[in-house]
Amino acid sequence: MKNKTNLEIRNMFEKISEKYDFMNRIISFGLNEYVKTQAIKELNIKPNSKVLDLCCGSGDLGKIIKKLQPSCDVIGVDFSQNMIELASKKNPNITYRQMDVTSLAFEKNSFDYIVMGFGLRNIPQKNKALEEIYRTLKSEGQFLHIDFGKHNIYSKIYDNIILFIIKFFTKNTKPYKYLILSKRNFLEPEELIELFKFNKLTYIKHKNMLFDVISFQILKKTEIK
Ligand SMILES: C[S@@+](CC[C@H](N)C(=O)[O-])C[C@H]1O[C@@H](n2cnc3c(N)ncnc32)[C@H](O)[C@@H]1O
Repeated sequence: MKNKTNLEIRNMFEKISEKYDFMNRIISFGLNEYVKTQAIKELNIKPNSKVLDLCCGSGDLGKIIKKLQPSCDVIGVDFSQNMIELASKKNPNITYRQMDVTSLAFEKNSFDYIVMGFGLRNIPQKNKALEEIYRTLKSEGQFLHIDFGKHNIYSKIYDNIILFIIKFFTKNTKPYKYLILSKRNFLEPEELIELFKFNKLTYIKHKNMLFDVISFQILKKTEIK
């Protein structure tokens, strides 16, 4: 399967948006919210912070942040109009903007925290997205990245199980075949950390969950004076 272009990826997410939350629960065996909540808790977000949720999809991460820290000002960004509409309906207290993560219409040093769940894997120009994250983070601001983790035996078992299960729930299996391929081709946590460091972000910590099939990393912007 050849690599998808940005436009193909956007069209794919526009098409699957309607079933996105339902299918997410299925393919995560209901652990979706638990994993995201654990990662957000680890960030220890301070009250009244300005937080950007990149590749926000249907708005799960923003929702968790607002629940844990209601005083935060949260902005969600996604390039899919359907996802933005879905997220806005679910979270009326969050502002959503349709934008490409590789070209953010925000001033530099705007955010105390930037979070991104299951997004970077889908972006062909990863360095461009990370440049934008660095630019829009405030000095000492933190970046949380969550996605699939190690390519271990459990990860392979997971791929086979979900391919089997999704056939019961949807006729359109293409996006889930893409999910598995993109997951297999994605960097492992240690490689990701190197990519983040290459993009000037300073490593704080990372954690692997669910037999290392899921991983999250926390980094910060340390401005070179
Ligand atoms: C797998 S979903 C993750 C959604 C959500 N963060 C979550 O954890 O459930 C990936 C999202 O990233 C968005 N996306 C992918 N590439 C993007 C880009 N270059 N700019 C903005 N959004 C992008 C897609 O539209 C999709 O909603």
